[in-house]
Amino acid sequence: MAIRNLRYEGDEILKKVSKEVDVIDDKVKELVEDMFDTMHKADGLGLAAVQVGVLKRIVVIDLYDGQSKFVLINPKILKFEGEKVPSEEGCLSFPNQFGQVERYEKVTVEALGLDGKKFTLEAKELLAQCIQHECDHLDGHVFKEKIIPGTFEVVTPEDIENSKKNKN
Ligand code: NI
Repeated sequence: MAIRNLRYEGDEILKKVSKEVDVIDDKVKELVEDMFDTMHKADGLGLAAVQVGVLKRIVVIDLYDGQSKFVLINPKILKFEGEKVPSEEGCLSFPNQFGQVERYEKVTVEALGLDGKKFTLEAKELLAQCIQHECDHLDGHVFKEKIIPGTFEVVTPEDIENSKKNKN
């Protein structure tokens, strides 16, 4: 188990396109483990390898519901379905920043698992939103580019603490 250093806003690596993974070797497996550890420590729902400084097309997702935990290697979104709906997003590379982003309600994604086998996943709602957010990272794009004007907010943990106090 290892926590890796997160890359933050302003780091040029976040604008780079990640490369396909050719071989799923021990190095890739270790990276995936570290990505989960790093994401869990930061209470994130998703993380792309570029966010820990590795330009490989790897995404991890955990919605903390006991079943929606995925490793997507070389993911490709095959189908976007439904309406584009706005919902709030944040990103571990943009601490305390939030905004409404429009994402498709449903996506079908194809990827390799850690075992090297190809699988297809049909996702909707939060999972679909996460997949679209993380796949953007692999192409050098971040949620902040897509925030609906007027919905951007900076909310610090102290703000959340204070608003709780005010309610009591
Ligand atoms: Ni992100």
